Amino acid sequence: MKPIFLIGFMGSGKSSVGKRLSHNLETNFIDTDNFIEIKNNKNIPDIFKKEGEDKFRYYEASVLKEVSESANANDVIATGGGIVETVENYATMSQKGYIIYLRTNLEEIYKRLKRDTGRPLWDNNNVGREALYKRRIIMYETWSDYIVDTGDKSIDEVVKQIKRIIAN
Ligand code: S3P
Repeated sequence: MKPIFLIGFMGSGKSSVGKRLSHNLETNFIDTDNFIEIKNNKNIPDIFKKEGEDKFRYYEASVLKEVSESANANDVIATGGGIVETVENYATMSQKGYIIYLRTNLEEIYKRLKRDTGRPLWDNNNVGREALYKRRIIMYETWSDYIVDTGDKSIDEVVKQIKRIIAN
């Protein structure tokens, strides 16, 4: 039994699945984005705007390390979609737990993030979205121990599948 790291593109359901899964397993849920916002007392768009993406990635990697060090068996950690942008994050996660990729196709992501306003790399980035998605999915696949498709599934179905995976 190890902690569970959820990775995947923005809008793939890492936070909603993670919350439900940890509730179900009666373990802790940690959302790295949330942790970054609390620690810095600023929301993510503000961090991107005032300090830039590189600084955000630095915060993200340190929070991930901190969270990993104290994570217990079956704790669930939802990461930001760009967790794969920092190579050292792979070591942090793989040494400690399972990495599960919540895979969602781009069409579904578009639907889910239609009215989104809190994701600097998605909002106002019509041109770059597809390229970002294509580049990232290769990394999610390479980094993950297991892949769970989320597109046509309810949160409960995804949770059930993850529970089956970790039980084996
Ligand atoms: C990002 C994804 C976001 C958040 C930040 C950057 C990314 O998290 O960390 O806006 O680079 O894909 P979600 O995947 O939870 O939206």
